[in-house]
Amino acid sequence: MSTPPKQSSDALAHPAKPSADITASLDKTLRPSSWDEYIGQETLKKNLHILIEAAKERGHPPEHLLFYGPPGLGKTTLAHLIARETDAQIRITSGPALERVGDIAAILTNLSPGDILFIDEIHRLNKTIEEVLYPALESGSLDIIIGKGPSARTLQIDLPPFTLIAATTRISLLSGPMRSRFSGGTHRLEFYTDDEIARIIERSSAILGAPIHEEGVREIARRSRQTPRTANYLLKRCRDYAQVHKRAVSADAVSEALALLAIDERGLGPADRVLLETLIGKFGGGPVGLSTLAAALAEEAATIEEVYEPYLIQQGLIERTPRGRVATEHAYRHLGETPPPTAQERLL
Ligand SMILES: Nc1ncnc2c1ncn2[C@@H]1O[C@H](COP(=O)(O)OP(=O)(O)OP(=O)(O)O)[C@@H](O)[C@H]1O
Ligand SMILES: [Mg+2]
Repeated sequence: MSTPPKQSSDALAHPAKPSADITASLDKTLRPSSWDEYIGQETLKKNLHILIEAAKERGHPPEHLLFYGPPGLGKTTLAHLIARETDAQIRITSGPALERVGDIAAILTNLSPGDILFIDEIHRLNKTIEEVLYPALESGSLDIIIGKGPSARTLQIDLPPFTLIAATTRISLLSGPMRSRFSGGTHRLEFYTDDEIARIIERSSAILGAPIHEEGVREIARRSRQTPRTANYLLKRCRDYAQVHKRAVSADAVSEALALLAIDERGLGPADRVLLETLIGKFGGGPVGLSTLAAALAEEAATIEEVYEPYLIQQGLIERTPRGRVATEHAYRHLGETPPPTAQERLL
């Protein structure tokens, strides 16, 4: 079982990890409530529409779905949209919240026909709970063992038809049997383009009643780590900055606000830069193993893998190799350092 990612001490400075209460209030106000408002992820949306339409025509709930991808890309939002589309009630729980068999049994036996059960952080589900879920997902029954030893017997309870929607930031930690239960599909959420992020910022600024100049939108979009949650977070911080300084949310105000948050032109926060600096300064650019890097940064390995790395890899700043993490030439240049000569250059 993985260690839970710890909340960063510089949560405010790191836009991918705002503190829990900020995240909750942000998510509620700005979460899209219709498919039109859910920007991007076009292929995924098309596939989901087909799945949902076909299920509706057959009079069944959609089959079980798994969404995975880095934090803040819209997995939870999708679960809510599917519930809306199918007129279903959504029951929300998470891997770490389900400790005992009784916890999952209580939830499953309380489902109404057509309900959606959303399990967040499914990679943190323990083995015993997983085993209760298998028959529930496959044959719609709950098998409970009553008693111990020779007098133990299995009680089988039929469950109403339901859809499990699970989400995870770490698909690699899901067991094979668990992964194979998602008959409706396993879908990866992609990072968003700058244009999509810009549309999300425009929509959010309208909801917040904070008009923002077009260049301001572009500036935030460029630094949003291709992630809607980060875009909304940065927009709010820029709005605060402009409000306090009694200014419009212009490109200049955005640049100043983001400089104050120490978010650079590529969207990297202090924690990302420390990671790159450590990889380059302490480990000569790597390769270095994840646990060694984590120890040097006093961070959980899971946090590095789940929160920092996806964007750094997507940006081509670091690479995961079989021998460990390696800083790329771009990483050196981003920090204003000269990259080491390549093997070919050394020969010349
Ligand atoms: N496609 C989208 N269009 C518009 N806004 C979006 C979109 N996806 C996400 N958002 C915004 O980003 C916020 C974060 O999304 P969400 O909570 O669904 O992410 P998540 O993938 O579940 O993250 P985590 O892995 O941290 O649970 C939402 O509240 C919403 O405001
Ligand atoms: Mg979520």
